[in-house]
Amino acid sequence: MALITKAIKGTKDALPKDIHKHQYIEATVLDIASKFGYKEMRTPVFEHTELFQRGVGDTTDVVQKEMYTFDDKGGRSITLRPEGTAGAVRAFLENGLCNEAMPQKICYLTSCYRYEKPQAGRLREFHQFGVECFGTQSPLADAEMISLANSIFETLGVKDLSLEINSIGCPTCRAEYHKALKEYFSKREEDLCDTCKGRLDRNPMRILDCKSPVCSEIAAGAPAITDYLCDECKEHFVKVQEYLRAMNIEYTVNPKIVRGLDYYTKTVFEFVSNSIGAQGTVCGGGRYDGLVEELGGQHTPSLGFAMGLERLMLLMEAQSCEFPSPEVPDLFICALGDKATVKAVELAKDMRAEGFSVIMDLNQRSLRAQMKYADKLGAKFNIVIGDNEVDNGKAVLKNMSSGEENEIDLTAFVNGFYNISLSEQLADLEINGEEFDFSSLFSVNNKDE
Ligand code: HAM
Repeated sequence: MALITKAIKGTKDALPKDIHKHQYIEATVLDIASKFGYKEMRTPVFEHTELFQRGVGDTTDVVQKEMYTFDDKGGRSITLRPEGTAGAVRAFLENGLCNEAMPQKICYLTSCYRYEKPQAGRLREFHQFGVECFGTQSPLADAEMISLANSIFETLGVKDLSLEINSIGCPTCRAEYHKALKEYFSKREEDLCDTCKGRLDRNPMRILDCKSPVCSEIAAGAPAITDYLCDECKEHFVKVQEYLRAMNIEYTVNPKIVRGLDYYTKTVFEFVSNSIGAQGTVCGGGRYDGLVEELGGQHTPSLGFAMGLERLMLLMEAQSCEFPSPEVPDLFICALGDKATVKAVELAKDMRAEGFSVIMDLNQRSLRAQMKYADKLGAKFNIVIGDNEVDNGKAVLKNMSSGEENEIDLTAFVNGFYNISLSEQLADLEINGEEFDFSSLFSVNNKDE
C-alpha cells in the first residue's frame, strides 16, 4: 500500500514551487542553442535495445549494467533511453536529415534512465540538455561546441567550473593504444573485476572508467592515449585548443578523460565542479566520427554534448545563482454571490484573452477565505465584486503590495486595469538615475476624484 505513495528510488518530482527554476534553465539553454543554430528535436523515450548496444557499446557500464530493458507485449526488446545521442542519430538517419545541408545541428531536452546507485546528483531518471552537430570534421566545430556549453554556464551565472579536454584518437591510433593497454592490464588481470576481465580482450579502454575502486587504482597508472595519437588526431587537437584560446576559454588537458560511452573519437571534454560532491561532471561530450556509419548511415563526422539538468540545478543552488522570481497572478477576483460570480467569469475571460493571469475562487468561499487564498497566491491586484458592484458597474481595484486603491469601471475593466498596472510598473522606473513620474501620463479613474 505504501508503495503507491512513494516514488521509485532514484526518481524525483519537479514541484510547482520550483518549476520556474526548471523553466528558466530550459528556456535559457534552448535560447542559447538557437543562437548557435541548433533546432530542437524530440525522439521517443524508448528505442530498440539494439540501438544502444550498437551505439553506446556493449562493453560499456551503461549497456552492461544500467539499462532499463524489457520485452514489450509483442516480444520486442525495448530500452528506456540511457542517453540522447543514439536516438538522435537514429532519427537523423530515419528522417532523412542526413540528406539535408550539412552540418545539421539539433538539440534536445530529455529524460534519461540508468540503473545506477542513487546519490546526490545521480538519479535513475534524470534529465539532459544535449546538442548534436552532424556532418563536420573541422576542429572549429569542436571549439564552437565547447563555447556553446561555456556560454550556457556563463549566462546562468555558474562559476568555478573547470573545463577538461582530451583527445582519444581515431581507430588508427586507438589500435596501437589498445595494444599498450592490454599489455599493461594483463599484468594485473587477476585483480580486475569480472566485468573488466571480460573487457581486456574486447575493449581495454573501458577499464579506464570502471567505477570499482581496485580497477580505478590499477587504471591510474595505465598508459595515456595522448602518447599514441596519430598525426592527424594530434593536429586536430592542437587546432581545437588554438580556437579555444582565441575565444579566451580556459581549459586543462586531462589525458585521463576517456568518457564512459564507446562512440567517442578525437576530442572529448567535461565541465567539472567540486561544489556538488562526487558527481561533479555537469556536462560531457565529444566527437563521434564513426557512430552514424556504425548505425547504418554514410560516414558522417559528428559531435555533441549533454549536460545533466539535476546537477546543473544543484550547482546553481549551491552557488546561489540568481533565478527569476516565480510568476504570480496579476489579478485575483473575489466574487460574492451568483450575480457577481457571473460578472467575474466574464471579466476573467476578457482579462486572460488580453494576456493577464487571473484567478478566482472556484470554491466560492467567504470573502475572508477568498482574501486569504489571494494572499497565499501572491496576486498583484485584487478586486471584490458583490451585488452592489455589479449594479453600479464599478469596483475597487486594490494593489496588494502598496495598498493603493482605485475605482475602476467594470464595463471597461481590461483598459482600466491595464493603465493602472502599467503606471504602477513605470512609476518604479528611473531614467538617468532620476525617478520619473509616469502616472501622470495615464488617465486613471482614481477613487478620490
Ligand atoms: P554522459 O556523460 O553519460 O554523456 O552524460 C552527460 C551528463 O548527464 C553527465 O555529465 C551528467 O551531468 C548527466 N548524468 C549522467 N548520468 C546521470 C545520472 N545517473 N544522474 C544524473 N545526471 C546524470 C552522454 O549521455 C552523451 N550522450 C553526451 C553526448 C552527446 N556526447 C555526444 N553527444
